Amino acid sequence: MKFFIDTANLKQIKEAQDLGVLDGVTTNPSLMAKEGITGHDNIMKHYKAICAIVDGDVSAEVIATTYEEMIEEGAVLATLDPKIVVKIPMTKDGVQAIKYFSLDGIKTNCTLVFSAGQALLAAKAGATYVSPFVGRLDDISTDGLTLIEDIRLIYDNYGYDTQILAASVRHPMHIINCAKLGADVMTGPLSAILALMKHPLTDSGLAQFLADHAGAKGR
Ligand code: E4P
Repeated sequence: MKFFIDTANLKQIKEAQDLGVLDGVTTNPSLMAKEGITGHDNIMKHYKAICAIVDGDVSAEVIATTYEEMIEEGAVLATLDPKIVVKIPMTKDGVQAIKYFSLDGIKTNCTLVFSAGQALLAAKAGATYVSPFVGRLDDISTDGLTLIEDIRLIYDNYGYDTQILAASVRHPMHIINCAKLGADVMTGPLSAILALMKHPLTDSGLAQFLADHAGAKGR
């Protein structure tokens, strides 16, 4: 399972990269705004800074909403770095743009996916990644994990190459359950990744080992 970090915060991206388990980054306009990154040139510079830190794919989302503008904006984003994946929303124009980029050999991430039908369309259009938003479905009392399960089944039925990128992951159990269901990738906050390593028996076991080692040295 690939681990992507869902942030535009360079410090957190570096921390995850240094941990040695990071496979990529996803961003969105809200995450960029949260870091105070505004204006075309600053946004482009920021994507380049992210690409300089990580080894894997970096999703950069288009702001455009029409097919023609998405093509134009996505092409500019794709030239920034070979790691850039053009992130495109699940709309009619978005599906067309994904098809265009797929024929052009440019990687895409179909975002804002909330149903199996949307995921099927994204795969048919040739998306590299599809991003079902697990957490946001949970937020409205709909089981986000069932969507991951459904998409896995459909993609396996037909052998679609589109990778299931479980998005809007909020906590370690989302990661574990997405892994059990066969999501190819998960994207979530650094806190969810770090929480995976925590267990009280690890802490108490280590404390005991160190205490026994110190005691044996003293004898
Ligand atoms: C997907 O790529 C989005 O950036 C993201 O996962 C949304 O997560 P949120 O629902 O926590 O905002």
